[in-house]
Amino acid sequence: MELIAVCDSKLNTAPDFPIGWWSVARSHEIKPGDVTSVTALDRDLVVYRTESGEARVHDAYCPHLGAHLGVNGKVVGESIQCPFHGWQFGGDGKCNHIPYCETIPSRAKVQNWPTSEVNGEIYMWFHPTGAEPDRAVPVIEQIGDENWTEPRQVEFNIPVHIQDIAENSCDPEHFQYVHKQNQTPPSSVDVEDGAVHLRSEIEAQGMKGELHATMFQPGLARVMTSYGPGAEMLVYNSAQPISKNETLLRWTLLVRNEIAEFVGDQVMDGIIEGLSDDYPIWENKVHRRQPVFCKGDETLVLFRKWVRQFYLPDSPRGQQ
Ligand code: FES
Ligand SMILES: [Fe+2]
Repeated sequence: MELIAVCDSKLNTAPDFPIGWWSVARSHEIKPGDVTSVTALDRDLVVYRTESGEARVHDAYCPHLGAHLGVNGKVVGESIQCPFHGWQFGGDGKCNHIPYCETIPSRAKVQNWPTSEVNGEIYMWFHPTGAEPDRAVPVIEQIGDENWTEPRQVEFNIPVHIQDIAENSCDPEHFQYVHKQNQTPPSSVDVEDGAVHLRSEIEAQGMKGELHATMFQPGLARVMTSYGPGAEMLVYNSAQPISKNETLLRWTLLVRNEIAEFVGDQVMDGIIEGLSDDYPIWENKVHRRQPVFCKGDETLVLFRKWVRQFYLPDSPRGQQ
């Protein structure tokens, strides 16, 4: 006797969080001495900046009686102080001061997450075993370059797992149905230097150009659009997975100074509109761990092979 399979749901199909660097804040939001609470990777975190300017990310709950370090916690020099009884924690997450006791218990520590600060953002490194980073956050050289405009920034909350958002850019067939494009633009998808590269011919107001999207990991991508020298635009996207089914995307848009007057807000609006098209699909879909693919789905198959490297091979909830 064969039983009908359990119904899939968003809760029982979501993969683990991929290994990698995750954006948790824009740099300008956290000044020296600032403390804030952030939820990422299904964890409550405290993000703060020490007086000397170093950004830190720790798990939020104090090992003493469980106060949230991100709510009324204080920066004291290079440490963070718990708002409840004043215990202080240093950069390695270990308690280094208890105001009313000289002996510090060896278990008095919070989980520390390695951080990196580039591209105007603070990133935390996530590995399910706590392994140290084995790569750096890609540096987007155009951010801060005087030939490019100041970054325009926008954030957008998406009701889906980060992997499904990443997969969307390797899915040319959905453009006709979801984004109402007449035709799928001629494009190629390859893996080079560990990143996925999508190249597409594009056309705007009679001008031909090229779009080159580079996905460094699920949740870190750069899209360069070029209509010739001086007519270039860059969109950088970094993700903060809040939970398995909710992701905050941070978008940064820059254009060459030469075209600054012509390109800007409407491009940002276009991105938001594009995401809004995807929204009803994302909000209601389940994640397919082993999708039924057809021969026309080569780019999706390529993406699924590439993305395996971001999960532990024997993880029960890892992605294949
Ligand atoms: S709960 Fe943090 S010091 Fe007591
Ligand atoms: Fe889409």
